Amino acid sequence: MQAITVRDRDAGLAGMSLTDMPHPHAAENDVIVRVHAAGFTPGELDWPATWTDRGGRDRTPSVPGHELSGVVVELGYGTTGLSVGQRVFGLADWTRNGSLAEYTAVEARNLAPLPADIDDTVAAALPISGLTAWQGLFDHGRLTTGQTVLIHGAAGGVGSIAVQLAREAGARVIGTGRASGRDMALALGVDTFIDLQTEKLEDAGEADVVFDVIGGDILDRSAALVRAGGTLVSIVMPPKVHPKDGRAIFFVVEPDRARLADLAKRLRDGRLKPLVGAVRPLAEAAAAFAPGKRTPGKTIIRVTEH
Ligand SMILES: NC(=O)c1ccc[n+]([C@@H]2O[C@H](COP(=O)([O-])OP(=O)(O)OC[C@H]3O[C@@H](n4cnc5c(N)ncnc54)[C@H](OP(=O)(O)O)[C@@H]3O)[C@@H](O)[C@H]2O)c1
Repeated sequence: MQAITVRDRDAGLAGMSLTDMPHPHAAENDVIVRVHAAGFTPGELDWPATWTDRGGRDRTPSVPGHELSGVVVELGYGTTGLSVGQRVFGLADWTRNGSLAEYTAVEARNLAPLPADIDDTVAAALPISGLTAWQGLFDHGRLTTGQTVLIHGAAGGVGSIAVQLAREAGARVIGTGRASGRDMALALGVDTFIDLQTEKLEDAGEADVVFDVIGGDILDRSAALVRAGGTLVSIVMPPKVHPKDGRAIFFVVEPDRARLADLAKRLRDGRLKPLVGAVRPLAEAAAAFAPGKRTPGKTIIRVTEH
């Protein structure tokens, strides 16, 4: 099968190529998915898990990409809950070969059934941003109806989903980002938008939950905006500065089949729209990873046709 691989941590992107790989092996409770569409995170070549297995051992050449949609073609020993021929979408394990490949082995519990009327490319854009936004707002941030949430990067992948989920939950939403994201954030439903380049973050006022996707100085300054009893949630780095009277949390998104199914339902109902950007073939995945000007929205790799 064909896959995008990375071979050498020092070479990074320069070591990324379209390669012939052996068909993956389905271990216990795995499924093999024929990947139709895949998502990747631009920074993943910096993640230790891209290069090593759970034991910290070198696992190169490795296949990047951790979001996928496709169809189950094989079940591992003892796998239940999914069947051959079923459309699925979800997260590929961080420390195993990922979704930029014609076939990939994934633990079945990381995937959810994909309804027939949801497009593969849209489904591949949802798993990381959808689960991260949900877990950050509600599991870790404990956001409830009537509260205020400040969402950094409100026009980005995670932020745009967080805005939509928070609005639907009845929260007041303050969004931040660059000037280029203002119109998108307002269209998604933020009540107020702060352009971090020209306006003062501190003018946003206090929030019960601050959801950070930027890190650094913005994260440090966000602690002071958390209302007493509130939560600062970051998905980028552990907060160094904590709220005076509140919690500070950094987390890595976890797979969750039931939540994926709920997100798929919201997609079908038109209550949730992931921002899909460019759709490119597998052969162009390395170019899509390269830093530089990206089309707004999440870049999706069309891996195989049905
Ligand atoms: N812990 C986890 O489980 C987890 C899960 C998902 C993502 N992440 C991480 O979270 C981060 C965000 O992911 P994403 O997919 O949402 O990225 P994204 O689509 O690039 O969104 C980030 C948004 O923030 C804006 N932004 C970034 N830096 C800014 C700054 N200094 N001032 C104003 N606006 C700024 C970006 O604007 P521009 O596009 O104009 O730069 C963009 O709108 C990444 O670092 C990713 O690796 C972590």
